[in-house]
Amino acid sequence: MIQKNIIKNNFSNTMNMKNLFGGYYKDKVVFLTGHTGFQGTWLSLWLTLLGAKVIGYSLKPPTSPSLFNILNMKKIVTSKIGNINNNNKLSNEIFACKPDIVMHLAAQALVVPSYQNPIETFSTNIIGTANLLESIRDIPSIKSCLIMTSDKAYENKEFNYAYTENNPMGGTDPYSASKGATELVISSYKKSFFNEKNSPGIATIRAGNVIGGGDWANYRLIPDCIKALVSNKNIILRNPQSIRPWQHVLESLSGFLLVGSKLHKNSKKFSGPWNVGPSPKNILSVESVVKKIIHQWGSGKIIIKKNNLHEAKLLKLDSSKIFNLMKWKPTYSYDDSIEKTVDWYLRYHENKKTIQNFTILQIEDYVKQAQKTKNRWIK
Ligand SMILES: NC(=O)c1ccc[n+]([C@@H]2O[C@H](COP(=O)([O-])OP(=O)(O)OC[C@H]3O[C@@H](n4cnc5c(N)ncnc54)[C@H](O)[C@@H]3O)[C@@H](O)[C@H]2O)c1
Repeated sequence: MIQKNIIKNNFSNTMNMKNLFGGYYKDKVVFLTGHTGFQGTWLSLWLTLLGAKVIGYSLKPPTSPSLFNILNMKKIVTSKIGNINNNNKLSNEIFACKPDIVMHLAAQALVVPSYQNPIETFSTNIIGTANLLESIRDIPSIKSCLIMTSDKAYENKEFNYAYTENNPMGGTDPYSASKGATELVISSYKKSFFNEKNSPGIATIRAGNVIGGGDWANYRLIPDCIKALVSNKNIILRNPQSIRPWQHVLESLSGFLLVGSKLHKNSKKFSGPWNVGPSPKNILSVESVVKKIIHQWGSGKIIIKKNNLHEAKLLKLDSSKIFNLMKWKPTYSYDDSIEKTVDWYLRYHENKKTIQNFTILQIEDYVKQAQKTKNRWIK
């Protein structure tokens, strides 16, 4: 009830999104891990607009400020604070809410901290995912389970080549290796324990470098830039020439939600991995992204300070599978993705009170833009 009142009271002009994705999410109960994080907060909000009831399970917000607190998400979703490594608590919470869908985003999600805390990264990302899969084995209400892994799960040979879902898993730094290993664990669970006719579908989403408003993580390009710009400091770049597939958070989440909406219809056909990457035009160097941010912000200066930690220099994703089977393709151009991101931070710094409404307007804008470009997934 609280959930509905908040949306209704504050956003009477909100477009009705409940029929999107074939109306699949309306009245569904979604158990979502990582709901206090950057993408988890955007996803919680979008799911709520789609008519789902979200029960979140994760540690407290990983940053301060955090999008979760700024948007007052405690009042919009049911929030359970708990560790994915705590088997009993996790199992009890999932069992108690009898979800229709499980979405798993909780992770130690950063490369540099994975060098500082490799065991915690492996434990949370690999064993945490195994804990989740173990917890849902005997819950008949669950029809599908979607797990966010990463493009970094691929064994990156640094070729000028876009990875398809059939390429082998790998990973040099602990974060990337943990995501590769997570994929192997999921595949093993699927083949070993979720192979009956009535087993839930299990899909993984491998997104690129996700950008958007409300991310304050350390060691990520956009938050680092914004922090420097706000405090009039130079922007320090570690790997200016690294090439990444940049995409707006609503792109990775629209692919995620689309796969979820299909998975329950035909779990055999739609289970498995899905690349959800940007258009090849969005595959650009770190330095060119930062120059565009500076241009839009109106000021700022770059300085280069290399470190010795290994980070992939070249990483491209091939998203033909999701296009061929589901007609999903990116909606935002490179310029749009950066503009929407910088607009969000500018609005936040100008007027914090309106940021919840502005975030919803950005979701609506994305949907309208997808409809305008006749993106055929948007039904
Ligand atoms: N941001 C990106 O560029 C990107 C790209 C590809 C994939 N991903 C993946 O998407 C997912 C979400 O990433 P994000 O950008 O929102 O990261 P984030 O760091 O903002 O959020 C991580 C979430 O996981 C939770 N968490 C961390 N450790 C936990 C634990 N032990 N138990 C329970 N909860 C725990 C945090 O509380 C938070 O809610 C992650 O799986 C990440 O690896 C992110």
